[in-house]
Amino acid sequence: VKRVRTRHFSRAKRDGHKISGLTAYDAASAQIFDQAGIDFLLVGDSAANVMLGYDTTLPISVNEMITMSRSVARAAKRAFVIADLPFGSYEISPEQALETAVRFMKEAEVHAVKLEGGVAVEGHIRRITESGIPVCAHIGFTPQSEHNLGGHVIQGRGDAAEQLLEDARAIERAGAFLVVLEMVPTDVAAQVTAELSIPTISVGAGPHCDGQLTVWTDTFGYSQGRVPKFVRKYANLADILREATEQYISDIQASAYPSAAESYENVPPEH
Ligand code: KIV
Ligand code: NA
Repeated sequence: VKRVRTRHFSRAKRDGHKISGLTAYDAASAQIFDQAGIDFLLVGDSAANVMLGYDTTLPISVNEMITMSRSVARAAKRAFVIADLPFGSYEISPEQALETAVRFMKEAEVHAVKLEGGVAVEGHIRRITESGIPVCAHIGFTPQSEHNLGGHVIQGRGDAAEQLLEDARAIERAGAFLVVLEMVPTDVAAQVTAELSIPTISVGAGPHCDGQLTVWTDTFGYSQGRVPKFVRKYANLADILREATEQYISDIQASAYPSAAESYENVPPEH
């Protein structure tokens, strides 16, 4: 299989082919998504919520992100793998951003890094891309700023659209190859998509972006609880796993598992 590369994303935008993405946090799920033909996998810091049980993305560390990113990068044979730089690991300076990005490239062997922000991190994005590391940006609702944004609020409505466009322009200027638009009105996302030469990826930003991305545990019903309205549930893995677990427990309790065929006979050892 041929690896997806950054040029595939620009080509997809040019040819009008939609780009598909999912988050992934471990090798087992990444292997399945990769076999199914997903274009890119994002090792999102949403791992803080869905894998580590935190209420926000803020507490997850670089080391935790690198461990998960490495497992995804090792499992994906075709998909392009992007890792999130976690909160606090890049904001301080372009040098800090590059240093953290380099750690992800060396220790996790991902293909690109992602960070949140537009104009405010233009220099950070430029520093990383000039060192040869592809950068995916992320604007609109940016979970690492959720305390400042006042919770999960749609961004870029009304007059705020102009700032969002300014952020998008800064990201393109800085050399990013991809930009995620999260929880942005459909028309504003369409405007950004039309104006930028780099592809836009929608996370609740409507159908006119160049691609779509969701948190896999939401989309496939693995995590429980409320999901945003832009999530379409393609499976109910939590129900499947719960029912299978109940069957497993009842088989053990009834001594119906394991059978003789599922056990080892005492025959002489082979040489
Ligand atoms: O962490 C994440 O999963 C993300 C995407 C949802 C954009 O940043
Ligand atoms: Na993220």
